[in-house]
Amino acid sequence: MSDAAIKKVCVIGAGTMGAGIAAQVANAGVPVLLLDIVRDEANRNAVAEDAVKRLLKTDPAPFMSKAAAKLVETGNIDDHLGKVAECDWIIEAIVERLDLKQSLYAKIEQHRRDGTAVSSNTSTIPLAQLTEGRSEGFKRDFLITHFFNPPRYMRLLEIVAGPESDAALVDKVAGFADRSLGKSVVRTKDTPGFIANRLGVFWIQAAINAAFDLGVTIEEADAIGGKPMGVPKTGIFGLVDLIGIDLMPHLQKSLTGTLAKDDPYQAIARTQQLIEKMIADGYTGRKGKGGFYRLNREAGKRKE
Ligand code: NAI
Repeated sequence: MSDAAIKKVCVIGAGTMGAGIAAQVANAGVPVLLLDIVRDEANRNAVAEDAVKRLLKTDPAPFMSKAAAKLVETGNIDDHLGKVAECDWIIEAIVERLDLKQSLYAKIEQHRRDGTAVSSNTSTIPLAQLTEGRSEGFKRDFLITHFFNPPRYMRLLEIVAGPESDAALVDKVAGFADRSLGKSVVRTKDTPGFIANRLGVFWIQAAINAAFDLGVTIEEADAIGGKPMGVPKTGIFGLVDLIGIDLMPHLQKSLTGTLAKDDPYQAIARTQQLIEKMIADGYTGRKGKGGFYRLNREAGKRKE
């Protein structure tokens, strides 16, 4: 099937991932509808509009070209969800909460055209849970497309299809991701965390525990767990700052809730208190005022 079959894409959730995915689609010359919630009554589209402004300013290189930005239409889900009917692929990239994702799908179901692909960018939630309660038609058109952060530079795309997913539609999305977005597509089973996060979250969690148990600094931990172990540039704590500290409790809860009680991950998922305090204090990572690295710098200054 030709990529021309995907003429317009909708991305819902203009945060770290949704904005980055929208930029990649627009950079490929395909029009995008980017929607988010209403946070400011005076400017109901502000969340998506601000995301586009940020995409044009990223350093060292803008995530999106000025020409591509003209292909992005911004809006909010309350006023503009009906426009999903114009789109051939709807990508959900809202926060990692099953209840919010499920209630959004119920709304999308009322507006989308039959045969339109709907996918979730979930990191960990099994497809079977996401589509619970939805119609047969919705389940047929639904899949998981898990992009990695930042979507501009990370080539991997995990695709998860359910038993009811339409194989031709899944192939159409995979083909578009491969040819138009330059992704290396890996098809994975519908298991908690799929492949990358089943390993990745385990490994991040184990590294955080080890650093705190052994009393090593985050720089020391990243020096060992960074380049020498094949993690480019950021190291593990730098990666968590990039992913977003606020995502961690959702990833942890999703995995502890879906994995078997005797799974080794259950025993190591034990940094909730520290992470929840960081979030409450605004240390959400690069998307906020900073994360582990900023906290560490501030602690260092207090000791001086
Ligand atoms: P984020 O917190 O940066 O952005 C989420 C966006 O969704 C926010 O702008 C928020 O206002 C919006 N939103 C929340 N509820 C909404 C609703 N009902 N309708 C429309 N918009 C809504 O989150 P992030 O990090 O971009 O994560 C999004 C998804 O991508 C999650 O499922 C996450 O697990 C997944 N993911 C995240 C990665 C990361 O490195 N941050 C990597 C790969 C996947």
